Amino acid sequence: MEQIRIGVIGCGNISDIYLTNLQKLESLVVVAVSDLNHDKAIEKAEKYEIPHVLSVDELLENEAIDLVLNLTIPAAHAEVSLRALEAGKHVYSEKPLAITLADGEKVLAKAKEKNLLVGVAPDTFLGGGLQTCRELIKNGAIGEPVAATAFMMGHGPESWHPDPEFFYRAGAGPMFDMGPYYLTALIHLIGPIRRLTGSARITSSERTITSEPKYGQKIKVETPTHVAGILDFENGAIGTMITSFDVWGSKTPFLEIYGTNGSLSVPDPNTFGGPVLLRKPGEMDWTEVAFTHGSLENSRGIGVIDMVDALCSGREPRASGELAYHVLEVMHGIHDSSVKGEHYKMNSTCKQPEALPSEILS
Ligand SMILES: NC(=O)c1ccc[n+]([C@@H]2O[C@H](COP(=O)([O-])OP(=O)(O)OC[C@H]3O[C@@H](n4cnc5c(N)ncnc54)[C@H](O)[C@@H]3O)[C@@H](O)[C@H]2O)c1
Repeated sequence: MEQIRIGVIGCGNISDIYLTNLQKLESLVVVAVSDLNHDKAIEKAEKYEIPHVLSVDELLENEAIDLVLNLTIPAAHAEVSLRALEAGKHVYSEKPLAITLADGEKVLAKAKEKNLLVGVAPDTFLGGGLQTCRELIKNGAIGEPVAATAFMMGHGPESWHPDPEFFYRAGAGPMFDMGPYYLTALIHLIGPIRRLTGSARITSSERTITSEPKYGQKIKVETPTHVAGILDFENGAIGTMITSFDVWGSKTPFLEIYGTNGSLSVPDPNTFGGPVLLRKPGEMDWTEVAFTHGSLENSRGIGVIDMVDALCSGREPRASGELAYHVLEVMHGIHDSSVKGEHYKMNSTCKQPEALPSEILS
């Protein structure tokens, strides 16, 4: 099989783990990097021994590149993905797919028109923790899923991210930034969503950066920082979800699924590992379950590897554009419902991504 040649656009914070995990694979090779800030691209090329540092235009015009890995900021995702598709390249993008639904639709339509694939992060649901949960549900360990809770309770990224402004712009906030992990995990475990309702608020109009190098600088808040939603899944299960940048401390679980015959404590969906805990009727405590799958460490990029395999075998990637669009519509729907004071009925749906083969069991 020929190697798929990847060009990376966006060499910021998250690019390191991708470039680390995408090294030394037989199926793909990172041949070029690019960033609006050329120095950042040079730094990553040197660190990961990538042969070419190109401008964005040069990278897109380069016919030797098959797939663009779009690691830019959310506001640039749709534009960069559309340009890459227009140039005839497959795209794998960091989340979210786009900021607006209209832009998300354009990306999917362009991929269809050009007969190219779109993959979108997160890919944490391909890790051993969430795949073990999927296996348990598939095997009836908790019976039929009845309900779920999902909580991302924190106090925002301005204490650790070096450039945290974008988290408070329209199209970001806790739901658009962290919601994709929780929603993708829920859809992977339960299925697509048909209807929802939401409530959202902006708690402070201004936040203060406490990370370096921008310590003390102020950020104007343009998007809700506490967002709550109720999710009605197509199969009848009911989800309760909160994402917040306004909470100093909380004992809420990351994610739990409640079934007719037991409860499942799902690991942090922003990670690849465990623990996975199960509690059956009548039991007083949770029992830790052995993993059925590997990839428990930080495996960011496993979605790109799956997409390369999908390209070579003619199937859809698991972390697909269709799934990411459904997640994007849920996140917008929660905000819209809050503004309008009414339920939001979903227009899109998606296939539950195929479970990975359980290589540990087999
Ligand atoms: N930082 C994290 O821990 C983390 C984790 C998971 C996902 N993500 C996602 O990864 C993406 C990038 O996040 P980050 O933390 O690396 O941000 P970052 O600000 O550190 O890096 C983004 C890089 O993209 C470049 N860029 C922006 N627009 C561009 C354009 N049009 N063309 C070329 N380059 C452009 C910037 O110059 C910057 O170097 C975001 O979508 C974020 O949601 C980040």
